[in-house]
Amino acid sequence: MDSALIRLAPSTKTVQCLAGDTVLAALEREGFALPNNCRAGACGECKTKLLAGEVDQGTVLDMALTTEERAEGYRLMCMAKPVTEVVEIEFGSLEAKPKLFPPRDRVLCVVTDAVQRTSTIREVRIRPVGEPLRFWPGQYLLVGDSQAGVSPRPYSIANAPRPDGEMSLLVALVPDGKTSGWLHAGLQVGDRITVGGPYGTFIGDPGTSTPVLCLAAGSGLAPILALTDAALRRGFDKPVTVLFSARSEADVFDQGLTSWWAAKHRRFTFLTTFTGLPAGAEASGSLVGRIPDVLPGLMPDLADHAVYIAGSPEFVDACSEAALGLGAEQGRLHVERYVAALTA
Ligand SMILES: Cc1cc2nc3c(=O)[nH]c(=O)nc-3n(C[C@H](O)[C@H](O)[C@H](O)COP(=O)(O)OP(=O)(O)OC[C@H]3O[C@@H](n4cnc5c(N)ncnc54)[C@H](O)[C@@H]3O)c2cc1C
Ligand code: FES
Repeated sequence: MDSALIRLAPSTKTVQCLAGDTVLAALEREGFALPNNCRAGACGECKTKLLAGEVDQGTVLDMALTTEERAEGYRLMCMAKPVTEVVEIEFGSLEAKPKLFPPRDRVLCVVTDAVQRTSTIREVRIRPVGEPLRFWPGQYLLVGDSQAGVSPRPYSIANAPRPDGEMSLLVALVPDGKTSGWLHAGLQVGDRITVGGPYGTFIGDPGTSTPVLCLAAGSGLAPILALTDAALRRGFDKPVTVLFSARSEADVFDQGLTSWWAAKHRRFTFLTTFTGLPAGAEASGSLVGRIPDVLPGLMPDLADHAVYIAGSPEFVDACSEAALGLGAEQGRLHVERYVAALTA
């Protein structure tokens, strides 16, 4: 089959599907975000209802697409290739905007692991006992224990969706912080907790065909890791640069993961700039100084970049100003401000 047309319902928008392309790849090429995870017919994340036409489903696991689901018209778009000139699928809203997953309340999870990453950041890994939570990379959960007087607070999920549903949270300890204190000291591996989510719209745009620059400090790296994970997995072919701000070496974490990404994907670069090093440290080759100060020397022209920034409001505001000053377009600037809660 040469090429086909994918029609999206209810918007009636159309997307060209080139010969040999899967429906997922065609949608992403034109900027329509469809949830996905394994891209190999094994997880079921990209399940979508086919309303008209037919696709070659290829080889997929029964676990990911049951016989009943097939009979109801569902297909896995990561492996589906059109075999009719037009296929119509259920996709998004009337404006063809990707649908955010309805948040779930009180999702029971078990703490599967907890590791102190730096003196102030603890990684807490949780896994739902039931169905995995469906979320877009970059979104956050509300985590707390109201019954024990620990107010739910937002924490970004630090990974893209995984088949086993596990989610990593990177929690910075805030002095006198009730919820972060509980996540650091009160919560133990094996404990059961309930979370709510997913929430937020700090999500990647698969339609981006521009280089990507991500700026983060401290636990602001969490949603940036999730977005990067998802972009690299789907084979995003433009440069992705993450610039991380840390006081010293001791505040840098996840070097293993970011080094692996850099080795595997030539277009991925992870840079750290240190804000607490003694004068003269530049000589050793490391970047030194706040992001707004080092950025102009590193990337003087951001006119063609999509920019993602996450961290404290002060950090996000200073970096946004710097990025806009270097020509970044407001429409391609995405921010996640970790504003402190006003309520106890
Ligand atoms: C969308 C979103 C995503 C977030 N994601 C993450 C994440 O992935 N990881 C993470 O660690 N945090 C994240 N946060 C921040 C987090 O939700 C809490 O605000 C933070 O953990 C403090 O909560 P707490 O209950 O411990 O402190 P509180 O009991 O709420 O505050 C204690 C005291 O500390 C002050 N305070 C609160 N936060 C800070 C701060 N950041 N720096 C300095 N002083 C502060 C308060 O004003 C108060 O005086 C996110 C926030 C938002 C809005
Ligand atoms: S089945 Fe996993 S992404 Fe399609």
